[in-house]
Amino acid sequence: MEKLKTALQYIKSKTDFVPSIAIVLGSGLGDFGNKIETACSISYADIPHFPTSTVPGHAGKFILGTISGKKVIAMQGRVHYYEGYTPEEVVLPIRLMHLLGAKTLILTNAAGGVNLGFKPGNLMLICDHITSFVPSPLIGKNKDALGTRFPDMSKVYAPELCNTARNIAKKQKLTLKEGVYLQFTGPAYETPAEIRMARTLGADAVGMSTAIEAMAARHCGMRVCGISCITNMASGITDVPLAHDEVKETAAAAEKDFTALLQGLIQEI
Ligand code: HPA
Repeated sequence: MEKLKTALQYIKSKTDFVPSIAIVLGSGLGDFGNKIETACSISYADIPHFPTSTVPGHAGKFILGTISGKKVIAMQGRVHYYEGYTPEEVVLPIRLMHLLGAKTLILTNAAGGVNLGFKPGNLMLICDHITSFVPSPLIGKNKDALGTRFPDMSKVYAPELCNTARNIAKKQKLTLKEGVYLQFTGPAYETPAEIRMARTLGADAVGMSTAIEAMAARHCGMRVCGISCITNMASGITDVPLAHDEVKETAAAAEKDFTALLQGLIQEI
């Protein structure tokens, strides 16, 4: 809590902007940040105790500003468990955005398609998740100031926000798949056997982020919505070896639909 408070004080010393919506922009999706009428931007590296990203394609700054008349705080780039931070450190930015005033969190990511009905470039509404392969960010003494010891996770992704996303997709005639996101630790991509396991467990997409962030957000009472960009079919489904460049390129190609969906969502929240 002390680290969180110091980081919060630093941001408050830079701006008195109070966001209502927090957005995390995933791999290759960071350009959305340029659509924000920026009031203030803050590099992660300048914030005390803040985990900084080491991944190419993850810029590493907060953008505070207005889009579609709504006050937002966007993370251009996130940090991952595989970078060596603890799960608790990984979710510090989520808790910080909550303390800054954000009531709703939109999480985005690049993910591998496990569901054979998916194609690279599809967007997937995250309806539920499996975090069981990554240690919980809530392990340790409970931070009672944030939330309860045993938080309910039966509706992590707010049903009303899911409906809003479906309606926007329908109105804008864009394809929006739906499914369960499973978080692995990474950084290696999965083996074909792990992907068959993920499918057996009920996953439609896999990635290396998001689920523990959604868990921390629910712990502190934020409403959560999640969108994956299926950048590739997961390991073993095609013969193509997986590479981060492909992930970034496909995410960039899906940008038009992604932007339309995200902007629509923000407008309706
Ligand atoms: N696996 C894990 N993470 C990912 C993938 C994948 O296939 N694609 C994008 N992020």
